[in-house]
Amino acid sequence: MTRRTGKGRRPLRIFLVAGARPNFMKVAPLMRAFQARPDRFDPVLVHTGQHYDAAMSDVFFKELEIRKPDLHLGVGSGSHAVQTGKIMEAFEKVLTGDRPDWVVVVGDVNSTLACSIVAAKMSPPVRVAHVEAGLRSGDRTMPEEVNRIVTDALADLLFTTSPDADRNLLAEGVDRRRIHRVGNVMIDTLRRFVKRSDQADTLRRLGVAPPYGLLTLHRPSNVDDVEALRRVMRAIGEIASDLPILFPVHPRTLDRLRADLGWGEASGQDGRVRLLEPLGYLDFLHLQKRAALVLTDSGGVQEETTILGVPCLTLRDNTERPITVSRGTNRLVGSDTAAIVAAARGILRRPRPRRRSVPLWDGRAAARIAAVLMLR
Ligand code: UD1
Ligand code: UDP
Repeated sequence: MTRRTGKGRRPLRIFLVAGARPNFMKVAPLMRAFQARPDRFDPVLVHTGQHYDAAMSDVFFKELEIRKPDLHLGVGSGSHAVQTGKIMEAFEKVLTGDRPDWVVVVGDVNSTLACSIVAAKMSPPVRVAHVEAGLRSGDRTMPEEVNRIVTDALADLLFTTSPDADRNLLAEGVDRRRIHRVGNVMIDTLRRFVKRSDQADTLRRLGVAPPYGLLTLHRPSNVDDVEALRRVMRAIGEIASDLPILFPVHPRTLDRLRADLGWGEASGQDGRVRLLEPLGYLDFLHLQKRAALVLTDSGGVQEETTILGVPCLTLRDNTERPITVSRGTNRLVGSDTAAIVAAARGILRRPRPRRRSVPLWDGRAAARIAAVLMLR
């Protein structure tokens, strides 16, 4: 056996896990940082298959120059228990055959939770590093909140994006020495690719000119609750009378719009709400940067609009990313029709906010993570 420390050190074998759309932007810079130091890292990219449509997965590998997954677990969709269970079963087989030094998980999706539990319960345990640790919405009805709490409770290393995350972890009794504030890997990707997205011909292809608004919606609390979905879409219809709205639709939401609101292939509201397929990263970034207003219930989009200096209305009552409100351009508006419309009209009347910076969201988070792992 080769020694891991000292002169005869072998590279750290790292299983890096990705499963769903927001994971791909986060693993891209990490893979790049690991691959840049083959003397120190031997990364294995594991795709659980939680997201599988080309527009929810493959496109990001191509655009963000991520190599093909080394392992694909192919689990697909299912209820929380079914999906989490399938990932656990498949990932346990992987870890039984090939024991890495670290399992690195990102974000808060079911793939994050499932792989952390499996690693922590191997005998002996495989160490877990959680990238984007410590975020808390305080709302346990949100499936991601459960994923965050359990993953952080199991992780040996907790990489955070903001001081509030550090405070949340300390309040939960996490040993300070395990917490490393490194910045935001999702913003590493934004900074790397924003120039390329400037060159995309997205608006021309869509035949759209500013001003326009951009909407994304996929949280179960908004789309699986038919009344909430109706309230939000009524608000969007009203805003669309002032401002055309582009709406790349998440597959979960498309199902609900069709089944519960009877929306067809074409858009509602006289074509002023334009339904689109889920977009690739470069097209979506192109649209975000030029939008007069973004309306969303996404986690990542709250952060990206903060860095782009684009006003964002978050269609939720809480956020696990409070720094996007205190230092950024984000505002929580919930799902009440009148509140959403009033907030949107207020933004359209005001000059665009100044771009604000967030400490350490500087494009170097993945390099900092690699540096910490090297010392372990
Ligand atoms: C998941 C994450 C959520 C994240 C979101 C990002 C969990 C608990 N949720 O939510 O945190 O914000 O991804 O987009 O992990 N579907 C397809 N094609 C796909 C993927 C999904 O048609 O490629 C449809 C299926 O009908 C599926 C539904 O979308 O049942 C939901 O997918 P799932 O991965 O369970 O949750 P998301 O809502 O995507
Ligand atoms: N995104 C994208 N195409 C879209 C919608 C979103 O590329 O049509 C990107 C967005 O820029 C961000 C990420 O997807 O980088 C956010 O993922 P999502 O909203 O699905 O998940 P969340 O962040 O809410 O977990």
